[in-house]
Amino acid sequence: MNRQTTHITQEQIAAQLAYCARLHAANTALDHTPLAMVDTYGCQQNEADSERLRGYLSQMGYGFTEDPFQADVIVINTCAIREHAEQRVLGNVGALTHSKRSNPGQIICLCGCMAQEEHVARKIKESYRQVDLLFGPHALWRFPELLWRVRTGGRRVFAQEEEPGSIAEGIPAVRQGGVKAWVSVMYGCNNFCSYCIVPYVRGRERSREPQAILDEIRALAAGGCRDITLLGQNVNSYGKDLSQPMSFAALLKQAAAIEGEFLLRFMTSHPKDASQELFETMAASEKIAPCLHLPFQSGNNRVLSAMNRRYTREKYLEQVRALRALMPDIVLTSDVIVGFPGETTEEFEDTLSLIEAVGFDALFTFIYSPRAGTPAAALPDPMGREEKLANFQRLVRRQDEISEAKHKAYIGRTLRCLVDGRDEHGLTGRTPGNRLVRLEGAEELIGRFIPVHITGANKWSLSGRPALEEGPEG
Ligand code: 5AD
Ligand code: SF4
Repeated sequence: MNRQTTHITQEQIAAQLAYCARLHAANTALDHTPLAMVDTYGCQQNEADSERLRGYLSQMGYGFTEDPFQADVIVINTCAIREHAEQRVLGNVGALTHSKRSNPGQIICLCGCMAQEEHVARKIKESYRQVDLLFGPHALWRFPELLWRVRTGGRRVFAQEEEPGSIAEGIPAVRQGGVKAWVSVMYGCNNFCSYCIVPYVRGRERSREPQAILDEIRALAAGGCRDITLLGQNVNSYGKDLSQPMSFAALLKQAAAIEGEFLLRFMTSHPKDASQELFETMAASEKIAPCLHLPFQSGNNRVLSAMNRRYTREKYLEQVRALRALMPDIVLTSDVIVGFPGETTEEFEDTLSLIEAVGFDALFTFIYSPRAGTPAAALPDPMGREEKLANFQRLVRRQDEISEAKHKAYIGRTLRCLVDGRDEHGLTGRTPGNRLVRLEGAEELIGRFIPVHITGANKWSLSGRPALEEGPEG
């Protein structure tokens, strides 16, 4: 197969914007402003994709709603990482028969990772006839044309290009994050961890040109964005495929040199590629948040090898040591899978002992979910659900204690936090290491970095009060 990245040209994007203009004209002729609803599942990459779908929809003249009964167009941006996520989407798509019955002209679109899966597409075609348009991540840049075909052709449209992947610059975006934003630096994944569907639905690794990324960050910073997360399935292999290869650490260094008051974060890092150069770059810049999401998946070497992770427990622990030698206060988070096919309870104990040895600030814990077409789905899986669940609960309980103890250690400190929004309990903020802080204070503080005196903590979050008179420690 040809593994070359397809670069979508500016002419091709202009042609899509011309479809937006046609749809805009059709929408202007209506007696009401048509509304669109974009419902996003899964990871931040999907959130970033939804910002572009909203960008296109906005150019077509749609307003936005979160009520399916008000919507003329519904776009469901799906996640395929675990079966549970898929079941939720299918349940919600099933329920849309009601909104469609009350508004027969309603257009329902399903996109994202699930849409790229063969068996899902078949199921939607046959059993979910309320879905008018289905397209995978590779076809997102052509959404205006596809929607135009549905609106004018009166037929269902299915677009699931099988391709190694493309890069499209210049798609408009409507950002929702307020003071936060995501910037994709690359797409796809080459790692083929044996349990994971991502490489099959998102294609091969391909990096955006550094100039395009840096321009985007510059514009965000100038527009008041304070917290910018660089996104990729494995950011540490950024740049290997560029005509002038560059490392992720080098990109990060250039991004950190951009003027403005903002913090840079990034995810996800694969332990096989996280480098000393990266750690040194993080330690050297105040603009790079002192936190790292470094998924370990399992603490047992046999399981790691069966997962095709290509590092050992020892190498992982060595990386944590090297990182902490440079940044003793680094906030470390990770992903872990319990119940991988063939994992014994004895092997699972190695996962428990690894979280003990590292002391993560937070952990994202998952029970293994077989994904059709991945190598792990074909492995014998003798352990019963109950034993997996018992192991999972032991892990969660222990991590809860560790997280709570880590959080309690913040009490009495004053940290420079970004006030990033408000919810029903009051203002919310983030420590430099991205821990959630609840605080009292006026709305005007949103978007500002302020010193916060930490007064309380539980396993999920911290609480505190603005300490504008004190200034942060250090
Ligand atoms: N089952 C359970 N968890 C999975 N993940 C990825 N694939 C699966 C699967 N098939 C988890 C990994 C990954 C996170 C995003 O989701 O821990 O890091
Ligand atoms: Fe999936 Fe592994 Fe790629 Fe992450 S690195 S997206 S877990 S295949």
